[in-house]
Amino acid sequence: MLALSRDAGVGQVHAAPGNPGTASVATNHPVDPLDGAAVAALAGRLGADLVVIGPEAPLVAGVADAVRAAGIACFGPSAEAARLEGSKTFAKEIMAAAGVPTARAATCESEAEVAAALDEFGSPYVVKDDGLAAGKGVVVTSDRAEALAHARTCGRVVVEEFLDGPEVSLFAITDGTTVRALQPAQDFKRVGEDDSGPNTGGMGAYTPLPWAPEGLVAEVTASVLQPTVDELARRGTPFVGLLYAGLALTGRGVRVIEFNARFGDPETQPLLARLATPLGEVLYAAATGNLAAQPELEWGSGAAVAVVLAAGGYPGPPQTGGVVTGLDVATGDGNVLVVHAGTGVDGYGRVIATGGRVLSVVGLGDDLAAARAQAYAGIGRIQLEGGFYRPDIARRAAEADAPASAADAIQDDADPATGTTDPQGSETSVTA
Ligand code: AMP
Ligand code: GLY
Repeated sequence: MLALSRDAGVGQVHAAPGNPGTASVATNHPVDPLDGAAVAALAGRLGADLVVIGPEAPLVAGVADAVRAAGIACFGPSAEAARLEGSKTFAKEIMAAAGVPTARAATCESEAEVAAALDEFGSPYVVKDDGLAAGKGVVVTSDRAEALAHARTCGRVVVEEFLDGPEVSLFAITDGTTVRALQPAQDFKRVGEDDSGPNTGGMGAYTPLPWAPEGLVAEVTASVLQPTVDELARRGTPFVGLLYAGLALTGRGVRVIEFNARFGDPETQPLLARLATPLGEVLYAAATGNLAAQPELEWGSGAAVAVVLAAGGYPGPPQTGGVVTGLDVATGDGNVLVVHAGTGVDGYGRVIATGGRVLSVVGLGDDLAAARAQAYAGIGRIQLEGGFYRPDIARRAAEADAPASAADAIQDDADPATGTTDPQGSETSVTA
């Protein structure tokens, strides 16, 4: 929203339903984002040239289909293509068909199947809810009883082999044929310092990744992004929108951990803060099948770091209703952006927390250390009772100290003898 509002080629930005953050850069409309007919009608009334669908739930519910059926250009995949995020089993099926390297996996419908799969893949155990779970459906544990207990709460689950190595988020804008990758970013999934505690939707992110192997973007475009887009096009369900690849850089090469069908949160905040290409133009080109005619994406120099402010209790039931103060001074000298997520306004006109991840603060700087300093100075000026944030976002990278296992992965990836990925290798096989 912020990046669109800053594009000089974009006349007006409207949000449905929006929040107090979007209200400062766009016009909010009290329209249910899950109601395709209502979203299409709003876009029609406004004479919108482009509808951008942000979250996964409306995509999976077919809101992009409704908007396109009304003859309005839409950035966001159809319900069918959004199954890449909506069903882990479907994503595995597409990857197998496209030869995309991922963890070996088994879809299980009974406790006996889960138990057998846990024993097949061994510890650490990875158990994923098959459906949408806002980043919280995954349990990674060496405790077999905990793995079984999580599976019991899910219904259909995917059990898979553990992937060791640093994680990278690589996003691509696509019109269903042409793929334009963004720069890589890293997300911090665990709730606590030093990656302790349960998984969340993401507690912070930074970009670029000084430790990433050279050629990573080109390699992942060729081995993951383009083949996935091609496979969906081949099936007659082209993916138009943002393809998010969550990757593990393992000692044996790049493996896909998950796909999402939308811009990831919070990686998008630092990424778009550094994107120099006008965002509206490139999203419109993707929505109208004209991405190939667009110049390559351009990036600002320097680095960006986002730190998420979460409400107490998150990722469990969050304490909502707390008043957020300090927002007026948080941006400091201008190298800080505040991006709202779970916020609302109370009867006194005060900004309050309405969700687990309340907002993120993005710091910009010449390098990661400077960007971190800005982000933490900014978030330090904001108060929310019971609220918390991770103190270590981008810390190791800023110290030019690659993540513990990154050195190995980078070495192996750079070794031409072992190659980086082997799409035909045994790890791509899928047991469905
Ligand atoms: P997902 O929702 O599939 O992205 O999973 C959330 C997080 O769980 C990932 O970002 C990883 O940190 C972790 N995870 C998921 N799958 C695996 C795996 N096969 N091996 C190791 N960690 C995983
Ligand atoms: N940052 C992870 C996600 O958006 O799902």
